[in-house]
Amino acid sequence: MFVPRFFKLLTLIAFLHAVAPIACLTFNKPGFDQNDKTIQISQETSAISQSAIQVTLDNSRDYALKNLSGRAWYAEPFKLWRRGGGVDPITASFNSTFVINISPANGKTPVAEGLAFILTANSTVPENSYGKWLGIVNEKSNGSSQIVAIEFDTMKSYPEDLDDNHIGLDVGSTYSTIQFSLNDSDVQLSNGKDIRINVLYDGKNKNLSVVVAPNETTEFITKFSFSESINLSSYLPEDVYVGFSAATGDQIELNCVKSWSFQGEDIGGRSLLWVWISVPTVALLILFFVVTFFLYRRRKSRQVDPQRAYPNIEDHIRSSTAPRRFRLNELRKSTGNFNPKTKLGKGGFGTVYKGIWRNKEIAVKRVSKKSGEQEFVAEVTTIGNLNHKNLVKLIGWCYESRELLLVYEYMPNGSLDKFIFSDDSREELTLNWETRLSIINGVAQALEYLHYGSQKRVLHRDIKSSNIMLDSEFNAKLGDFGLARTIQDKGKTHHSTLEIAGTLGYMAPETFLISRATVETDVYSFGVLLMEVVCGRKPEQQIEEDTYDSSIVNWIWDLYKKGRIVDVADPRMEGKFQKEEMERVLILGLACCHPNPNYRPSMKIVLQVLTGEVEPPQVPLERPSFVWPVMPPSLSKLENSTTGSQLAPFSELTLSTRRICVYQEGRTASL
Ligand SMILES: *[C@@H]1O[C@H](CO)[C@@H](O)[C@H](O)[C@H]1NC(C)=O
Ligand SMILES: *[C@@H]1O[C@H](CO)[C@@H](O)[C@H](O)[C@H]1NC(C)=O
Ligand SMILES: *[C@@H]1O[C@H](CO)[C@@H](O)[C@H](O)[C@H]1NC(C)=O
Ligand SMILES: *[C@@H]1O[C@H](CO)[C@@H](O)[C@H](O)[C@H]1NC(C)=O
Ligand SMILES: *[C@@H]1O[C@H](CO)[C@@H](O)[C@H](O)[C@H]1NC(C)=O
Ligand SMILES: *[C@@H]1O[C@H](CO)[C@@H](O)[C@H](O)[C@H]1NC(C)=O
Ligand SMILES: *[C@@H]1O[C@H](CO)[C@@H](O)[C@H](O)[C@H]1NC(C)=O
Ligand SMILES: *[C@@H]1O[C@H](CO)[C@@H](O)[C@H](O)[C@H]1NC(C)=O
Repeated sequence: MFVPRFFKLLTLIAFLHAVAPIACLTFNKPGFDQNDKTIQISQETSAISQSAIQVTLDNSRDYALKNLSGRAWYAEPFKLWRRGGGVDPITASFNSTFVINISPANGKTPVAEGLAFILTANSTVPENSYGKWLGIVNEKSNGSSQIVAIEFDTMKSYPEDLDDNHIGLDVGSTYSTIQFSLNDSDVQLSNGKDIRINVLYDGKNKNLSVVVAPNETTEFITKFSFSESINLSSYLPEDVYVGFSAATGDQIELNCVKSWSFQGEDIGGRSLLWVWISVPTVALLILFFVVTFFLYRRRKSRQVDPQRAYPNIEDHIRSSTAPRRFRLNELRKSTGNFNPKTKLGKGGFGTVYKGIWRNKEIAVKRVSKKSGEQEFVAEVTTIGNLNHKNLVKLIGWCYESRELLLVYEYMPNGSLDKFIFSDDSREELTLNWETRLSIINGVAQALEYLHYGSQKRVLHRDIKSSNIMLDSEFNAKLGDFGLARTIQDKGKTHHSTLEIAGTLGYMAPETFLISRATVETDVYSFGVLLMEVVCGRKPEQQIEEDTYDSSIVNWIWDLYKKGRIVDVADPRMEGKFQKEEMERVLILGLACCHPNPNYRPSMKIVLQVLTGEVEPPQVPLERPSFVWPVMPPSLSKLENSTTGSQLAPFSELTLSTRRICVYQEGRTASL
């Protein structure tokens, strides 16, 4: 235990060395990758996709593209200047070339607002810096911010702006000190063509020059250029971040950076402060190690390490880029030593407490020791690596003194089931149609991301209303990844461990036969969830007769046949919805619950239906019967030859108290 900790500290020191400003910054990015930790982006408003930085989000998903401001920057700061012997500071020269692409989003013109190359003291994108502020400053910081930007403005947003196709040099504000129209150069910033830009700064002569050309030319044919004398050291601190900012307003556009190279001059002079801090720190650390080592040896002879009890858990988690590791004491303190008063709820794998950590509300799940090990590792390794606005964020974990703890962002409105299944008709517990629709949409986006958007395909395997959390604005966030499985190879579409897990009522009929999780089984559960949200009923709730045939799916299908599908809407909405929209959504739900997995839409299609881009798939009036044996498309291709062995999969059925998995002979076909 001592030795790994020692190495951890050494790694930390090495890391500190790495992030401490170094004199010379040079990189070349012909494209961008989500996993590239050297490129940082503003998480909510930017993305890296199609091997480019979308400085404001792109339209590959159903993002709201209006009024966005985003930034992307190189993680390490650049040493721009330092005090030398003379009066004038020594200023670094740099040379940066990048290819940008600004295009109308969803074909909408006119476009707005623009993109900028920035050198800044503070990399965080300012709040409300959308629209004419271009992500550079906001109303408050305009005029006082330590930032220099070269703007590529596609909209004339105030009288001083030249036109809707100009370049400007902005110092501490978005009010350009000089600006040039690109009209004469026949470069149109926002026509979706790749534009190559070179920014050169001569630190000695304080001369900044910018060259613009279409990227399609192989040589650097200059279409437009300007140079300006500017003393950057007067406006910027010694260490600056280099990057891009962009914004949209009521009109939108796609702001994309496709490649970026940067060469900064080495002006030497690593900060002396660093030396002053690091030398005594290292000395102290060595002393600390020696003392700890002896204390530890003495203690070890008396005590067995409690963590040895679960040797694999730490290995599993450390192998992934996991979220923050918490100390048990921190979490004890934040929850009042797991005070029952802070208890938020109890789930199958543990109890959830509310805590306060660094003035932030958090939810701490204390995983039960016996049953939850596997789920604990599943959560940390799956959602720990994912980032999406519709997934519950895992802030950290703790594994200490046999305690397995998971720390999430706190969701003020709790889980969805509380709202849709409550008999209470108080207004604050009743969701209106718009909210329900946005919840369905949110879950669909989360699932689409799990299935197609992240590096590895993830199957959630337990979509249900109690696993959907609601934030203060009733945005849906998918949580509880205890059963989730990651498929390493993205080409594969199923998880191949023979084990049945999930929650009855949400499980696709074929689950019991193929005993595999597939993308299609997730889609089925999503369909059931969609229906619940619309109807406010539990999937297994007995509706007419006392059989499974009265499940929510059959019930709705029945009314669909009778042409009365809209009747299923939760009466608490008091009919306040658009009938056609309701019908579309319900038909989509039925399509997702098609007994034959081959006919279920993918989550990509589901999203397109929800945004109104395409019509819902055709659904037969009569619920088709489940034909056996049926293979989901993803399995039938791959494993036809092994079908025989799958006919007796039930030997490895996992039974858990919460997720009932019952198989009864002769029942499967009618599930
Ligand atoms: C965008 O911001 C403007 C000005 O702040 C506001 O009038 C408009 O309603 C906003 N649009 C959206 C879609 O939020
Ligand atoms: C700047 O960098 C580009 C590409 O990296 C290079 O072609 C060009 O010669 C450099 N310019 C100067 C002045 O060093
Ligand atoms: C950077 O800017 C953000 C947002 O404008 C602000 O919250 C933060 O305090 C700033 N950081 C520093 C170090 O000034
Ligand atoms: C922003 O600041 C600049 C320079 O301080 C000033 O000239 C300009 O009027 C300001 N713009 C707005 C919209 O406040
Ligand atoms: C550039 O062209 C646009 C559209 O044709 C026009 O509105 C604008 O005034 C022109 N800019 C200048 C500086 O002439
Ligand atoms: C600034 O740099 C540009 C391009 O490198 C050059 O053409 C121009 O003469 C320089 N201006 C001064 C004042 O040095
Ligand atoms: C820009 O043009 C260069 C040279 O033709 C090419 O190598 C590069 O891939 C292009 N970049 C982009 C982003 O299209
Ligand atoms: C540039 O700015 C720095 C800091 O404000 C100042 O000390 C220096 O004299 C300036 N240099 C020139 C050439 O204006």
